[in-house]
Amino acid sequence: MSEVAYEVEDIESTETGEAAEPFVATLPRISIQAFCASGDVANAIQTMAKDRRVARAHVGVQTTGIDGAITYFETAPTPNLLLLELTDGAESMIGELARLADVCDPGTKVMVVGHVNDVLLYRELISRGVSEYLVAPITPMQVIQAVAGLYADPEAEPLGRILAFIGAKGGVGSSTVAHNTAWVIANGFATDAIIADFDLPFGTAALDFNQDPTMSVADAVYAPERLDDVLLERLLTKCTENLSLFAAPGNLNRDYDLDPNAYDRILDIVRAGVPTVVLDLPHQWSGWVKNILMSADEIVITAEPDLANLRNAKNLFELIKQGRPNDKPPHVVVNKVGMPKRPEISPKDFAEALHASPAAVIGFDPQLFGSAANNGQMIQEMAANAKPNEAFTEIAKLLTGRVEARRKRASILAPLMGKLTGKPGKTGKKS
Ligand SMILES: Nc1ncnc2c1ncn2[C@@H]1O[C@H](COP(=O)(O)OP(=O)(O)O)[C@@H](O)[C@H]1O
Ligand SMILES: [Mg+2]
Repeated sequence: MSEVAYEVEDIESTETGEAAEPFVATLPRISIQAFCASGDVANAIQTMAKDRRVARAHVGVQTTGIDGAITYFETAPTPNLLLLELTDGAESMIGELARLADVCDPGTKVMVVGHVNDVLLYRELISRGVSEYLVAPITPMQVIQAVAGLYADPEAEPLGRILAFIGAKGGVGSSTVAHNTAWVIANGFATDAIIADFDLPFGTAALDFNQDPTMSVADAVYAPERLDDVLLERLLTKCTENLSLFAAPGNLNRDYDLDPNAYDRILDIVRAGVPTVVLDLPHQWSGWVKNILMSADEIVITAEPDLANLRNAKNLFELIKQGRPNDKPPHVVVNKVGMPKRPEISPKDFAEALHASPAAVIGFDPQLFGSAANNGQMIQEMAANAKPNEAFTEIAKLLTGRVEARRKRASILAPLMGKLTGKPGKTGKKS
């Protein structure tokens, strides 16, 4: 390939390009009670309850049907969401729901799973305040999607996807891959991205982008209750029109012993404001790193082609696959391939050991990467035709499902900025 792919101009499908899999939001901290009448529906909801997107919600599943629900709620408080399987026909369904209304809080949303596929029934139920009607058989993902739809805040669209990058060892180039991929997503795909550098003591994102921010992720992590989209804007450093940086402090002023859930709120707020969040994770194993990996939308493991990297990459790969059975496995990038005089494990053997092909293989090029790092530039900025750009583009496509385009578009953060500054954003016009 002589030309890098993102010199292609005016690709129309940029706007409609979607992620490879439909985006399903994480459910908020809600309580869900399911009253099922059939084993299949109960199983689907039980499986759904174990999905990572449901980790913050509390889900109870009972198999006592609507009669059980009515008895149950005579004494127990009603949940935020009641999931009800009704096996009868349309007529009796309406009557049964009316009985339930007497024992339910008005604030409770009701979602019905029925066995009748009838659009008139659907309309009737919706008009009576049922939030959603699903026709059995249902899949766990279908339920999550429907529930997420109920709680999606139109103000918060589009919710960001979290792309987490971690190295199989330290120094393998995980941050380099993360930053360059973010650059391609933001500047090649014309969609907003935030790089969040969670390597608090040693992170290099600010250096790599030649920035010197005075505020950092530490300001958020030590006062999460203060964080909102307004404060977040102040903590971000703008690198390009579409790319912002949430930098690490990069100093040793504190001990950074973080709680396993230290980043939950920060990530919620960051992802509400931007479609792509590139998370640059340090090479370490702690509760918070594991939590983030388990809940990320996509994961990239960068490894060098040696035995220790292979072992670590395989361990990470297997653990993540096991913990996220309903998700795509992580992507593996083999970096610094072809280092002179170094015995290496071939990408083919790497793939065989992992039972997965690497998403990209990047050659060792100390001249190119060293100059980029010292100049505070991305590879694309330094050398638009350099080979590694193809790999970064490939990874970016895999993660976002997007096509690249040069077409300029106003920043997606513009409406938010407009609200904050009192000036209208520039994205108002549709074309
Ligand atoms: N393909 C490559 N060839 C040569 N040097 C590289 C390559 N990829 C990254 N580097 C260099 O390796 C060093 C470590 O990279 P970094 O991204 O900080 O690793 P990590 O985040 O995994 O600790 C940096 O100096 C970077 O410029
Ligand atoms: Mg790093």
